[in-house]
Amino acid sequence: MCGIVGYVGHRSSIDVVLGGLRRLEYRGYDSAGVAVMCGDGVLRTSKKAGKLGVLEAELAAHPLSVGGTGIGHTRWATHGGPTDANAHPHLGDQGRLALIHNGIIENFAELRAELVAAGDTFTSETDTEVAALMVGRLYHETGDLREALRRCVARFEGAYTFLAVHEAEPGRVVGARRNSPLVVGLGDGENFLGSDVAAFVEYTQRAIALGQDQIVDITATSVTVSDFDGREVVAEPFRVAWEAGAADKGGWSSFMRKEVSEQPVAVANTLLGRVNDGDVAIPELTALGDDLLRGIHRIVIIACGTAAYAGMVAKYALESWVRVPVEVELSHEFRYRSPVINADTLVVSVSQSGETMDTLMAVKHARAQGATTISVCNTQGATIPRESDAAIYTHAGPEVAVASTKGFVTQIAALYLLGLHLARVRGTLSSSEREHLTVELLAVPDKIAVVTSEAERVAQLARWMADTRSVLFLGRHVGYPIALEGALKLKELAYIHAEGFAAGELKHGPIALIEPGLPVFVVVPSPRGSSVLHSKVVSNIQEIRARGARVIAIAEAGDAAVLPYADEVLRIPLADPLCEPFMQVVPLQIFALELAHAKGLDVDQPRNLAKSVTVE
Ligand code: G6P
Repeated sequence: MCGIVGYVGHRSSIDVVLGGLRRLEYRGYDSAGVAVMCGDGVLRTSKKAGKLGVLEAELAAHPLSVGGTGIGHTRWATHGGPTDANAHPHLGDQGRLALIHNGIIENFAELRAELVAAGDTFTSETDTEVAALMVGRLYHETGDLREALRRCVARFEGAYTFLAVHEAEPGRVVGARRNSPLVVGLGDGENFLGSDVAAFVEYTQRAIALGQDQIVDITATSVTVSDFDGREVVAEPFRVAWEAGAADKGGWSSFMRKEVSEQPVAVANTLLGRVNDGDVAIPELTALGDDLLRGIHRIVIIACGTAAYAGMVAKYALESWVRVPVEVELSHEFRYRSPVINADTLVVSVSQSGETMDTLMAVKHARAQGATTISVCNTQGATIPRESDAAIYTHAGPEVAVASTKGFVTQIAALYLLGLHLARVRGTLSSSEREHLTVELLAVPDKIAVVTSEAERVAQLARWMADTRSVLFLGRHVGYPIALEGALKLKELAYIHAEGFAAGELKHGPIALIEPGLPVFVVVPSPRGSSVLHSKVVSNIQEIRARGARVIAIAEAGDAAVLPYADEVLRIPLADPLCEPFMQVVPLQIFALELAHAKGLDVDQPRNLAKSVTVE
């Protein structure tokens, strides 16, 4: 969690740092702070509980005359509540050193006791202050910020990214990284540090992703990367595919609304260059070799949250196309049992951010057992793709709103591409079947656009239902994970009790929840896919309707069977039944967003959540 920004260069560091924090605020938003070198050579900090706007107001009321060096932090509290005192930066060396941190220092209690015994006084309840005071002490001994940080990290257990500045070394920011992300932006006469590239993409598209256990030392004209033993390492720059401005709201009422509308383009970009002449070839998988992919006997998809639901959707397609068993497991459950994994298991992680700690740990675990690992990820330079044997990027552009939307549909698209790639290599689908499916996939962006263009009707429904206290979602086959995703969106954004169920389970419990007036969304499978499944779901609709539920059906164009029983029918264009989830999810995203709007809630930054869950 937490967003980190650092800057050294010719611009006003406060502007760059606050701009970067604005773009990283989705990582945590309970407090924020900056430390900047001022024109008089003094290092000053300003930090405030609350969203970034509170800090910005404070800085507007008490402006700092800043120079070109600064660091900033936006926090999601772990140790110590969200107060001014616990906000970062924390200070060491009599206030001459400022340090920010993302992660958790697991052995902080022991280190804190050591520092207290040595005479240090703490002003916060955080684990971070331990690091600030320790680096401060070591700076005193070494007179060198990089060396002080290097010696200090050897004492820490856990996950962390640190950035530090010292008054005696203006024009220098030093960072260290273990398990939490840190990316360097390479400018001309200026350099940047950020938790991800969104922090600086406005200024530069050249970047370096710091590796595990590395230290970075930036000035305006130099970037030096070394390992924790102090040996310099060569870091390869990459080009950030995101455009400058992609991480801005662009006139929309919220990032989420913008991202919902970007879904057609995001899916089209994910397909780009991977579908040619009626077949799928993913260039990023070439290095693995077809023999390895032919030898896979099992696929395990690991992910958390919305990404796990994308995996659940893809399971249906992958098993049908590739004819190997596919399991989908939550990363945190996978990691802490004893999964049977071996060299013929393909472990596919799905993570928009590429930083979810549970997923990262699960990938490392799978790799250690000899599995081949493929990462489906949206963020270049992120840790999970770096730790995997191959990566399929989703090319959705930055997703800023905490609740994932374009991340979700592009994850399904990337997993479907993987399925079709495997089906070609393993010969499990004929060329005409593959061609039919690629035509269907290529048609998805326009069909999503049809659904997003009907947003106002869904918005109206959400406004009517603004006082609703509970909503159920039912689905079957690929519609089941869509029902789960619809419920998750509503919980995340509108803080309403919402549950998703497999429609087939209705009579095994959920039907007891039905009472007059209860809204129930039903994701209706296409009758063209399976007339049996379709008629079973229509029967479910009748059963809940008979008990007074208010039924909102999501059904394909022309499906007349639902009309007599549904209070509302939201239509999606005709598509291959396995492609319907791309469209079915859209009204559910819009419903949750608009209902949250109607309740006056912040849809981009829902309470208690953060977009990248980088602590376990
Ligand atoms: C958090 C976010 C979700 C996201 C999940 C997994 O819970 O709020 O929107 O689906 O993390 O994130 P990832 O970056 O791994 O896809």
